[in-house]
Amino acid sequence: MDNLIPAPVRTAGDDSRAFVLDDATTLTAGPGTESTGRWLRGTLGAAFALPLAPAPKGAAGSANTIELQVDPALEPEGYRLGVDAVRGVRITGGSAAGVFWGAQTLRQLLGPEAFRRAPVRAGAERRIPLTEIEDAPRFGWRGLMLDVARHFMPKDGVLRMLDLLAAHKLNVFHFHLTDDQGWRIEIKRHPRLTEAGAWRARTKYGHRASELWDETPHGGHYTQDDIREIVAYAAERHIRVVPEIDIPGHSQAAISAYPELGNTDVVDTSALSVWDTWGINPNVLAPTDNTLRFFEGVFEEVLDLFPADTSPFIHVGGDECLKDQWKESPAAQARMAGLGLADEDELQSWFIRHFDRWLTERGRRLIGWDEILEGGLAEGAAVSSWRGYAGGVAAAEAGHDVVMCPEQQVYLDHRQDGGPDEPMPIGFVRTLEDVYRFEPVPPSLSEEAAGHILGAQANVWTEVMQDRARVDYQVFPRLAAFAEVVWSSLPAPAERDFAGFDRRMRTHYARLDALGVDYRPPSGPLPWQRRPGVLGRPIEGPPPTV
Ligand code: ACM
Repeated sequence: MDNLIPAPVRTAGDDSRAFVLDDATTLTAGPGTESTGRWLRGTLGAAFALPLAPAPKGAAGSANTIELQVDPALEPEGYRLGVDAVRGVRITGGSAAGVFWGAQTLRQLLGPEAFRRAPVRAGAERRIPLTEIEDAPRFGWRGLMLDVARHFMPKDGVLRMLDLLAAHKLNVFHFHLTDDQGWRIEIKRHPRLTEAGAWRARTKYGHRASELWDETPHGGHYTQDDIREIVAYAAERHIRVVPEIDIPGHSQAAISAYPELGNTDVVDTSALSVWDTWGINPNVLAPTDNTLRFFEGVFEEVLDLFPADTSPFIHVGGDECLKDQWKESPAAQARMAGLGLADEDELQSWFIRHFDRWLTERGRRLIGWDEILEGGLAEGAAVSSWRGYAGGVAAAEAGHDVVMCPEQQVYLDHRQDGGPDEPMPIGFVRTLEDVYRFEPVPPSLSEEAAGHILGAQANVWTEVMQDRARVDYQVFPRLAAFAEVVWSSLPAPAERDFAGFDRRMRTHYARLDALGVDYRPPSGPLPWQRRPGVLGRPIEGPPPTV
């Protein structure tokens, strides 16, 4: 009970007494909670070889059962979890999501063995200490962004990541699907986006300044069926998916597949291929009607694949759009003159406003990186504040919704230790403790503006993460600290009890071990030192970029 992560709002109980799950324990899933019932059977059932059979009709309220139910009087994602020595476990949530988060807590109460996919030994501990928990999240947006463009993560890895988010009570998966280095989502009306745009001939090994190359082609994409499966899997876990199609910058993969999307009066876009290095790319979309129609077609398919109830927000990127080609392009300049725009920032804003209106008409909300503030923020737009807090503060004070994800705090591609063993030493050093002391709401914000902070997300850019083990290493254990920041109502950063969190992490590392996560251990050999030659080998990296 005292090692839960993220920490619940209130716990009481008696660790010395317990309810014991056994073969006769039944599971009653009330209306709306059926998928959580299935999830419990699939996880606890597998870990302990327990049937958790449905209770016979009319048996609700009887002894030796796990009972799930919704009580709308509770906060929507809040829950109450009670464990009684005779009656068993009762989880009541303000919504189906609340019940699911309560079920996640139940798994933690059962110990690290509850996180295994198969029973480790007969008679594994099935005790649940007598407990009364009341809990609810601080923020409604508790997210992780995963970049599958720089390095592709096959579908099974994405499903596994969704399970890991759920285990940390995170509820938003921001899916960065397109970039200069690869287009990862099948679009039926534009097949070359994946036929050509999903593959690059070679990959830089290391960060921007590296001279090292992996000369094997890299690529992959999700079919529309894959996407549907990912979206359904996320929905069962009460995770909203925010698909990102990054425009008008970060578009070289699309331009290489359809050269007419680029600024053809400035560069020979037919000679472009999917970009094989990292950094900020000058090849941006041309501001033509053809480009608008092309991407409306893309977004039409995206809206079909990501339904409004689980994907109310659609991310259009908008970051790091270099304006040089627009400055040089007579066609772009003519477009600006025709629209009466003062400068290229306003041209970018015109792009974003177009899709803001387009998405709003279809019942969705646009979200973009904080550069979409430049040249004027589109009316309904929300902002992912990544270059620090300033963009988010400006947007929130202007009445726009904001997701805080400042690179100085929660970019998990940045190294987590200053020592020489880090596999690719990029970015700021941001330790587990630094992430634990991240505060999504700057104290300077007015109360009204603070109400526009929807929450926060950690971002994972994968330039230097060539496989799942490297992603694991960068994301964990820091995601556990992040999860507590966005779920639990922690005091101000300086007053947070990091020592207490670190003590609870001892149990959490055992949970991550059971889940097979290649996290950065607090001490001792790093994953590739334990298993040399297998995973994410460290190589001589270039000097840190920040
Ligand atoms: C970003 O890191 N370019 C959003």
